Amino acid sequence: MANAEPEFHNGFLILTKVEEPDQIRNWCNESSRLGKKKPLLSPNIRVVFPLDNVEHTGVYLDHGDWKTVFEMKYRHRTYTYLDGDVLKVARNNDGDVLKVTREKDIEPTIFRHLRENCLECDILSPRIIYEGTGYDKKESFHCWITERCIPMHQVLTCDKINKEKAVLGVCRCMAKAAAKGVRISDCFFYNFGVLVTGNEREHKVVILDAGCREILKREIPKKELNAYMKKLWDWASQAGVPHHHAW
Ligand SMILES: Nc1ncnc2c1ncn2[C@@H]1O[C@H](COP(=O)(O)OP(=O)(O)OP(=O)(O)O)[C@@H](O)[C@H]1O
Ligand SMILES: [Mg+2]
Repeated sequence: MANAEPEFHNGFLILTKVEEPDQIRNWCNESSRLGKKKPLLSPNIRVVFPLDNVEHTGVYLDHGDWKTVFEMKYRHRTYTYLDGDVLKVARNNDGDVLKVTREKDIEPTIFRHLRENCLECDILSPRIIYEGTGYDKKESFHCWITERCIPMHQVLTCDKINKEKAVLGVCRCMAKAAAKGVRISDCFFYNFGVLVTGNEREHKVVILDAGCREILKREIPKKELNAYMKKLWDWASQAGVPHHHAW
């Protein structure tokens, strides 16, 4: 093909690797050395939204076994995209992250479900700003843009944090999600985070990783939730967070 750049696919988010194959290989090997799976795409990616021929940048932030997370660096204050038949304009926020995965993931559906009819004071997950299919030449990905948070395992390394309150925040998320039919069984701290708000003293603890289980139409059984809570308390003990009467 004469033109090496991917063609513009109406409706697809275009994700283009920036680094050379050797650099990407070294980056992936570094992950394997740390005992992690390989991240997707490359340390920097170019991001173009459907119908909006402007190149934004995604900078690698973190990854787990399935999803790779990029911090969005937008070129302009808004971007335009097509949601079904509706043309939408989203406001850019430098605090956004792009999450990319190979298989269709239930996370955006769960996060929207958790935010439906919930009051501002009762938020359990970051907001889903955009969801679509990303395309990198031959490969396609499920991707979505959401609010950037500070993962809880990082928060807990900070001396000034009230660790008990932070873990209690995780406990609250798990219990409230369970009441809405969502089980958060992998409750290690990197799957939760703190949503940074305008209020410098009060930050919301939210779920960062929704797992892969379907939403139940009823509450998660108490016995099952207790088993997950027990795991959380074991993690908390290992992280040096005391168990007080609060739980
Ligand atoms: N909204 C966010 N803001 C900042 N960091 C995030 C956000 N969402 C996820 N992360 C970080 O990226 C990491 C990977 O994301 P996530 O846990 O969703 O991926 P995963 O592949 O499902 O993980 P796992 O290996 O637990 O299955 C998380 O551990 C978390 O620290
Ligand atoms: Mg995770």
